[in-house]
Amino acid sequence: MTAPGTPWNQSVLQLIDDRSSTRAFAPNTPVTDEQREAVLHAASRAPSAGAMMMYSIIDIRRQETLDRLAVLCDNQPMIAKAPWALIFVVDYCKWIDLFKHIGCFEPEFVERTGKQPRREPGLGEFAIAAQDAVIAAQNAVIAAEAVGLGTCYIGDVIENAEEMRELLDLPEHTIPLCMLILGEPAKERPATPHPTENLVMPERYRRADAATLDAQVAEMDAMFRPHATEPGDRVRDIYTRKHTSPFMAEMARSMELWLQNW
Ligand SMILES: Cc1cc2nc3c(=O)[nH]c(=O)nc-3n(C[C@H](O)[C@H](O)[C@H](O)COP(=O)(O)O)c2cc1C
Repeated sequence: MTAPGTPWNQSVLQLIDDRSSTRAFAPNTPVTDEQREAVLHAASRAPSAGAMMMYSIIDIRRQETLDRLAVLCDNQPMIAKAPWALIFVVDYCKWIDLFKHIGCFEPEFVERTGKQPRREPGLGEFAIAAQDAVIAAQNAVIAAEAVGLGTCYIGDVIENAEEMRELLDLPEHTIPLCMLILGEPAKERPATPHPTENLVMPERYRRADAATLDAQVAEMDAMFRPHATEPGDRVRDIYTRKHTSPFMAEMARSMELWLQNW
């Protein structure tokens, strides 16, 4: 625990500031056991609601699995070129199994405690378990940077639910919400700009008015489309390339299936 008055740990702040996603990995550079251990340990040290650890981490190293993930996650070949992938599975199956194992669903337990016979997890459990999983993933990201590895999240891991479920052998009450690819970066990675206009809202939600929307558009164009001639290039790009894309439709379809699996 940090004592009061301890000087700021600038190297941690610097590491967070310098991080950017890694999409090209140094060839023939395996991740060492020490690096793996540091990353997985950091993940396990992430805050967790009630310390229930409502997630599991699937540790993927086999080339054939990485190859399959590259296809299932919206055809991203860089996944097959990464030496390591971690899938953070939102996991309430482990608690259902524990409840059952210890006899919580048995009639005598129900009678003794006055609790209902069996309750299925709902969206409340999903919300906190999803937070657990993502927070653990982000701890892994920061630890990876600290041991010289780059990472990239792969949001498309929720796509193709039927095939993904089979590939990873996922039971009910599990959802593979979050995936990271990891490895030694092939090259320098300049930090990506992150827009911050109206990001932090003092005390209550502040919906953007026209002037704020203009400021957001201008900030994003300056960061991502410096040569655009018309304002709004970045917003139009997100609308056409992301918001109305087939992959987003597939994510929505698969997410419905995953929630049925919950
Ligand atoms: C939830 C999530 C999903 C993402 N999915 C992908 C992905 O499928 N492919 C990819 O190349 N990058 C993906 N990224 C990386 C983002 O594109 C990246 O974080 C963003 O452009 C900001 O850049 P930075 O990470 O370098 O700061 C994802 C990031 C997050 C947080």
